[in-house]
Amino acid sequence: MKQGEFAVRLIDWQQRHGRHDLPWQVSDPYRVWLSEIMLQQTQVASVLSYYDRFLQAFPTLAALAAASQAEVLALWSGLGYYSRARNLHRAAQRVMEALGGRFPSTRAEIELLPGVGRSTAAAIAAFAFDRREAILDGNVKRVLTRVFGIEGFPGDKPVENRLWSLAESLLPARDMAAYTQGLMDLGATVCLRANPKCDECPMAACCVARAEGRQAELPTRKAKKAVPVRQVMMLLAVWQGKVRLERRPDRGIWGGLLSLPECAGTQEAETWLAQQGEGDLLPSWPELVHVFTHFRLVITPQPIMLSRRSDDASQEAGACWLPIDEAIHAGVPAPVGKLLAAWPAGGNGK
Ligand code: ADE
Repeated sequence: MKQGEFAVRLIDWQQRHGRHDLPWQVSDPYRVWLSEIMLQQTQVASVLSYYDRFLQAFPTLAALAAASQAEVLALWSGLGYYSRARNLHRAAQRVMEALGGRFPSTRAEIELLPGVGRSTAAAIAAFAFDRREAILDGNVKRVLTRVFGIEGFPGDKPVENRLWSLAESLLPARDMAAYTQGLMDLGATVCLRANPKCDECPMAACCVARAEGRQAELPTRKAKKAVPVRQVMMLLAVWQGKVRLERRPDRGIWGGLLSLPECAGTQEAETWLAQQGEGDLLPSWPELVHVFTHFRLVITPQPIMLSRRSDDASQEAGACWLPIDEAIHAGVPAPVGKLLAAWPAGGNGK
């Protein structure tokens, strides 16, 4: 896309299809500021009635500063995120006291007010003072990552820095209010997170995500933390149609349940068998994955047929030998129940 084309398309689209009847589309910085604070984390439709009532109670910045915090909070009641109201009130008092009631007119100064971040300060500066300042909220990040095909989670610093630079490089020489409103409108009404309305988009012809059919992949989502994997071998040791179960310790997963004996691998299984008596390790069954909230348990089922059981091994505390169909209903963990059910009826575990 040629330099300047993004802004030209956006401003033209905003003028023809954007929103023009929002009550904060005025030049009074107090009204613009109030709207931008109310619109943080809150949809336009929810804000409208609160905005009107708030301005009726406090028509000017001076009136807001003179109010008590309780009065301000009462008018915010139901809108949520109440630190916004407390910051708004404190900021109004600071403007009255430190700046003689004159609302700051540059993005850098506006950003010093409590509750105002870089993007909100830029929006106020653009709408109320026609400043060439770039906004970058969640909606704008979605528009830019899609149109320009920018990879990486936008919450990561290097990606975010790149997006800020891009947002600044796209600014028009004038018409900052229409441009800024256009970005917001495009993100809120066309370039939607799910099912974007690409047919209505002024950037359709030059959008990388659309050209590559990657609207659903951009912006890149935050990488999920890798879930730790625990590997365990479970022994399905069968002797005369009975399977060996052991009571698990009270703590940890499946605390206190009857379950299959566990070990780390084939060698340990051989040692276990030698202690229990005589028999054969059969070919292991395919792995079974059980997903817990904090880890994945990968189970290798190891069937063992015992031909002889040594007397002392049967007496171990918490251990028992149960007929397989009884074992299934003895309150065993779900994947253990699955394995027991998979034992061939009357069969030999192969
Ligand atoms: N969201 C944040 N600021 C907005 C504005 N000025 N108009 C519409 N939605 C917004």
